[in-house]
Amino acid sequence: MNNDIERVLIDEKQISDAVKRLGARITEDYKEKNPLLLCVLKGSLVFHADLMRVLNFHCETDFIIAKSYGAGAQSSGELKILKEPDINIKGRDVIIIEDILDTGVTLSALLHTLQARKPASLKTVVFLDKNSGIEKPVKADYKCFDTENEFLVGYGLDYAEKYRNLPYIGVLKRKIYSI
Ligand code: PRP
Repeated sequence: MNNDIERVLIDEKQISDAVKRLGARITEDYKEKNPLLLCVLKGSLVFHADLMRVLNFHCETDFIIAKSYGAGAQSSGELKILKEPDINIKGRDVIIIEDILDTGVTLSALLHTLQARKPASLKTVVFLDKNSGIEKPVKADYKCFDTENEFLVGYGLDYAEKYRNLPYIGVLKRKIYSI
């Protein structure tokens, strides 16, 4: 598996340090709020698990699977929710946790859909904010890293459902994804 990686972009130590720094910021902002952490599956599962363990307050966690379709870069597009959260978000302080902000279309559509359910507040956390070369319809409230527009895998990110279990963010060799 590691042989398919061109180079390590963000190693385990860099990830761990950044997640701890982010956790400290979110702890400061949410320590009185008992927020609901909403993990957007599947890519966010690793980041979500790491982040929740460095938050020093009571929180609940839930999961959503959502895909956006037919959207342009500037629009929200249509969001299809394949798995709904179990917990009602109305009146809750909700933090959406995403692995990557690429075009921003998914997160934008998700915000639009969840805002209609009247949470007390709705903020976004992304692990990677990728420079996809276009203007995004949404900005993350919290993020760990900005990256260039490369084919990234690992730490939850996949190519054809593989590589999610790599403990680092790597750049996939071109010959792997061009096959
Ligand atoms: C990825 C990622 C975001 C979305 C970001 O999900 O987890 O949800 O793409 O892309 P965007 O900013 O261009 O909308 P993906 O659909 O690959 O599913 P996965 O999380 O199951 O890997």
